[in-house]
Amino acid sequence: MQHAPCDPATLPRPTSLSEVKGWFHSPDQVLFDWFLTRQGEQGQTGDLLEIGAYLGKSAIFMGRYLRPGELFTVCDLFDSPAGDDANSREMNRSYATLTRRAFEANYLSFHDELPAVVQGPSSVITDHVEPGTCRFIHVDASHLYEHVHGDIAAARDLIGPDGILVLDDFRAEHCPGVAAATWGAVATTGLRPLCITATKFYGTWGAYDEVHADLAAMLAGRDDMWHGAEQVAGDPMIRISGRKARLPGQPVSRHREERTPEHRPVRKSGLRALLGRR
Ligand SMILES: C[S@@+](CC[C@H](N)C(=O)[O-])C[C@H]1O[C@@H](n2cnc3c(N)ncnc32)[C@H](O)[C@@H]1O
Repeated sequence: MQHAPCDPATLPRPTSLSEVKGWFHSPDQVLFDWFLTRQGEQGQTGDLLEIGAYLGKSAIFMGRYLRPGELFTVCDLFDSPAGDDANSREMNRSYATLTRRAFEANYLSFHDELPAVVQGPSSVITDHVEPGTCRFIHVDASHLYEHVHGDIAAARDLIGPDGILVLDDFRAEHCPGVAAATWGAVATTGLRPLCITATKFYGTWGAYDEVHADLAAMLAGRDDMWHGAEQVAGDPMIRISGRKARLPGQPVSRHREERTPEHRPVRKSGLRALLGRR
């Protein structure tokens, strides 16, 4: 795919993940970190997939958990036109600043290599990823029912044994289609809900009891995230509220030394020095 010419001076140089525009809140960072780290500790191998990358905030975070021999694929329309009018309207409303170049510049600020990038509608993802290979899939793309239904069907095909599926915006007021597709998959495909946050649904078609018990134990040990059990379709799904959740370790930017004084919180003593007072 040829990129349009682009002035490198206009590309982003984030000095920290918090400078990358996107929607990836602290409770979800805690959960991504927990699921992906647990998979590593348990020796579970497999590839990572993100459908809907935008400027790379969640992809940059996920990329840190990639181990030798594993593949990370991201799929996004980026600058390409959406295949249908409803998706185009949604894109124009929400993602005017999106370019593939900006995604790549952001990603390479934190990692040495790009993931495999599939630029196109998510409906083509099964042509690019091998069936049964993914241990973790994050779906965060179109909000239209037909598309999300298709993304979940693709995820079911691509996910490996005991893989984790995360669905974004599964209950937001402005995207009822995601809710319909999510709970439809729970009702009809055997997708089992492990937990939900304000913005994301976490489920599996694989082994449930042990990962659920480990998750409940982890949450019981945290004082910064509320949780409670909710019986859903026969499973004890965990509801999590974590607006004050402490962030897990963050990916480190190669531009971190370029932080200007405005980036840094001014300590009181520094402030006094600046003002020339004792
Ligand atoms: C909410 S943003 C993703 C946010 C990102 N995961 C983050 O954490 O910052 C949704 C992305 O999905 C992409 N998208 C929308 N419809 C799509 C489709 N049908 N196929 C592939 N990508 C799509 C948009 O281009 C946009 O970049």
